[in-house]
Amino acid sequence: MEEKLDLISKCIRTFPDFPTKGIPFKDIFPILKDPKALTAVMDLFEEHVRNSYPQLDLIVGLDARGFLFGPLLAQRLGVGFAPIRKKGKLPGPTLSVAYSLEYAQAEAEMQEDAVSEGQKILIIDDLLATGGTLCAACELIRQQKAEVLGCLVLVELKDLHGSDKLKPTPVFSLIQY
Ligand code: PRP
Repeated sequence: MEEKLDLISKCIRTFPDFPTKGIPFKDIFPILKDPKALTAVMDLFEEHVRNSYPQLDLIVGLDARGFLFGPLLAQRLGVGFAPIRKKGKLPGPTLSVAYSLEYAQAEAEMQEDAVSEGQKILIIDDLLATGGTLCAACELIRQQKAEVLGCLVLVELKDLHGSDKLKPTPVFSLIQY
């Protein structure tokens, strides 16, 4: 496990002042250039989910970098994947929830038939900062009377206390700063 975490953390780069001054941006894309690091991410997520959530029905991923890891994990686990996107990108009837980011305002949107009543769901994204995005995602899923079992992220920025904002929903993160 330590070896895998080490492999992953070596692939995460920090860019100061991006996209705006004062934001230390965590770039996770080098993980995708390194098949061993990507496999390590998937192994650790898969192990955690198999051990903790055998009742899982569906993985929901967040726009945009949750889409990189969500479908891979869903396929490994033999469950489906559904997206939550930024407003205006999804066709057909949708539900939306407004939220605040570290550096912007946004609106999360989901197709009305993306999840079914009673489904047990895990949400995945690349990074947890303030928790605004994941909170909006939880609200969208609960509006459809489905159950959020927990959230999975590669990176958690501890100083921003996003996991407190999400309580009592559990958050599993691979790398913490
Ligand atoms: C980033 C990141 C998370 C979110 C976390 O995405 O990928 O989705 O911010 O921030 P929060 O915990 O403060 O809500 P962003 O909205 O920048 O969109 P992108 O993935 O399209 O770049």
